[in-house]
Amino acid sequence: MIDAITLPKAELHVHIEGTFEPELIFSIAERNRIKLPFPDVAELRAAYKFTDLESFLKVYYQGISVLRVEQDYYDLTTAYLHKAKSQGVRHAEIFFDPQTHTGRGIPFQTVIDGIWSALQDGKRNAGITSHLIMCFREVSVEAAMATYESALPFQDRIIAVGLASAEVDNPPSRFQSVFDRARAQGFLTVAHAGQEGPPEYVWEALDVLKVSRIDHGVRSMEDPVLVDRLRREHVPLTVCPISNTRLHVVPSLTAHPLKRMLEAGLTVTCNSDDPGYFGAYIADNYQQAAAALALTGDDLVALARNSFVASFIDEATRDGYLAELDAAVRSS
Ligand code: HPA
Ligand code: ZN
Repeated sequence: MIDAITLPKAELHVHIEGTFEPELIFSIAERNRIKLPFPDVAELRAAYKFTDLESFLKVYYQGISVLRVEQDYYDLTTAYLHKAKSQGVRHAEIFFDPQTHTGRGIPFQTVIDGIWSALQDGKRNAGITSHLIMCFREVSVEAAMATYESALPFQDRIIAVGLASAEVDNPPSRFQSVFDRARAQGFLTVAHAGQEGPPEYVWEALDVLKVSRIDHGVRSMEDPVLVDRLRREHVPLTVCPISNTRLHVVPSLTAHPLKRMLEAGLTVTCNSDDPGYFGAYIADNYQQAAAALALTGDDLVALARNSFVASFIDEATRDGYLAELDAAVRSS
C-alpha cells in the first residue's frame, strides 16, 4: 500500500508567502507591533473564504504586510520546511514574490537573506534540498524589469524567474522583454498559465516566454492540440488540486482534471500552492486527490516520480531521489 504522506517527493509549486499560517502571522505581527484587522487567529482563518484568485490575493497581500525584517523571512521559511519534511518532501522549488516586499520598502537583500539562510539550515538540519524561483507580479513590465535588476547581485541564489498573480487580462506575452533578458543571462523560466486564464496563455508561456514548466495549466485540457504538444514535448505541469477548488477554478475535487491529465500522458505533478491559506500541504493534496479521483498507487508514484523528473536539480541528486522513491515503492 502506497503511503501518500511518506512517499518521497519534490514540491515544485509553493509560494513561500502562501505558506504563512495564521498563528505565525499573528506572532510576527505582534513582534513587529502591527495591529491586524482581525481580533484573533480564529477570525483570521474564518476570513479565508475565497471566490476566485483575485479575492484570495487580497488576503494574501494582507498577510505579507506583516513581514518586515530578515528574521521574519527566516521564520516563515523554516516553518514551511518543517511542514514539508513531515509530508515527505525531499526537494522544494520555492517561489518568492519580491515585489510584494520591495513595494513596501523592504530591501530585496533582507527578503532573500532571510529565506536563503533558512534554506541552508533546512538542508543541514532536515536534509531538504531547494531552489528559489523569483516571481513577477502583474503590476507593470517596468516594475518587473526593475525587480529583475535588483535581483542580479543574488543570481547565484535564484535558479529561475516565474510569473504569478492575477491572470485574466494579463497575458504572459506582456513580460517577453524581462523573460528574454532573464534567459539570456542564464535563468530558467516558468509561468503560471491556464489557471483562470485560457489555453492561449499556455501557448504564449511556451512560445513567447519559453518556459521549462507550466504552473497550474489545468485549462490546457480545453485544447486538444495543446494537450498533444505538452505530451509530445514532455512539458511538466505543476498542478495544485486543492488550490483549484479553494479558488473555484474547478467546482469540486471530484471534477478536477488531474486524473485525466495523467491518462493523457502529461508530465503532471501535484503541489500545494498556498498551503497556509488553503489548509492543505503537498501530501494532503496527494491524499485528497487520490480519494476524490480514485487515483491508484501507481498514479501516486507517477506524480512523485514526475516531481523529481520535472525539478531543476542536478542529475546525480535527482537519481538519488529516484532510487529512494523506488526503494519506498518496493517496501510498500
Ligand atoms: N496564482 C497566481 N498567483 C498566485 C497564486 C496563484 O495560485 N498563489 C499565489 N500567487
Ligand atoms: Zn501559484
